[in-house]
Amino acid sequence: KNIALIAGGESSEWQIALEGASLVEQNLDRTKYNVYKIILHDGRWNYMDEDGVVSELDRNDFTIEIKGEKIRPDYALILIHGTPGEDGRLQGYLDMMKIPYSSCGFVTSVITFDKSACKRALAGTGIDLAREILVGRNTKIDPAAVAGELGLPLFVKPNASGSSFGVTKVKSADQILPAVEKAFAESDHVLIEEYIQGREISCGVLIAGGREYLFPITELVCETEFFDYDAKYKGLSKEITPAPLDAEIVRKVNAMTLSAYKTLNCRGVVRIDFIVKGDRPYLIEVNTIPGMSAHSIIPQQAQAMGMTVGQLYDLIIEDTSK
Ligand code: DAL
Ligand code: MG
Repeated sequence: KNIALIAGGESSEWQIALEGASLVEQNLDRTKYNVYKIILHDGRWNYMDEDGVVSELDRNDFTIEIKGEKIRPDYALILIHGTPGEDGRLQGYLDMMKIPYSSCGFVTSVITFDKSACKRALAGTGIDLAREILVGRNTKIDPAAVAGELGLPLFVKPNASGSSFGVTKVKSADQILPAVEKAFAESDHVLIEEYIQGREISCGVLIAGGREYLFPITELVCETEFFDYDAKYKGLSKEITPAPLDAEIVRKVNAMTLSAYKTLNCRGVVRIDFIVKGDRPYLIEVNTIPGMSAHSIIPQQAQAMGMTVGQLYDLIIEDTSK
């Protein structure tokens, strides 16, 4: 099988995606797959061969030219966070090119990468969600009214972004507008969300070959105010897998994780973040291209369940190669 490992991207998370792609590339079973890593960045989709010769993927027929020979990968393994690989754009293109891929489909990717739309799509499931106000660039914001409605502190987040870029925990009403401004640098909509005080946890999930794989839950214990960029990538957090949670909470989180995955029609490995307040988990967001770097949660959860990253992608590729 000729696999295009599409990495990078056009969002703030592109370098994190490259780290994940390296880890995945090293772990794919080379007796089964020829892997062509294509780095999508700054509008280019470049493949570099072992001699350092760069060939740009021809997006008309999904081919690369290596030493005069045209190769058309027959599968795409997507390792892009944010745009265009997690928000549905690349998925739509690959659908049109008839190239199967490793992630959720086009519609699911569009919905899940829009945090507010994702919450609306889950509204009928009974899963607890933080209250929110969604604002566009022209929305008039009355900071005192927002603080009155959602309480303080509250969270201001780009509605469509990842790795906590542009996220602020706001403690006073006068910080709301600057935080909103900062979030608009990442996304066209900004989500102002109720602060749920509790334990931050995350649960990986995959349904493949008719089997449900619920990964052991990870708890994020941060030295920072919340699980922000520095906690995620600069070592300012401890990730504990499996999380020391009561069996009843584990049961609830697992049930919500599967319910969200099925309701949203997910495919491939997905990681769902929750905050547990008392004994009540609130679903915070659904990550359809979860981080795969050495700091990231899914590789740690896979290892804790005795699965290698190579085996994880074998399951995904087998399930999605139709
Ligand atoms: N958005 C980051 C990569 C994650 O969810 O792991
Ligand atoms: Mg995320």
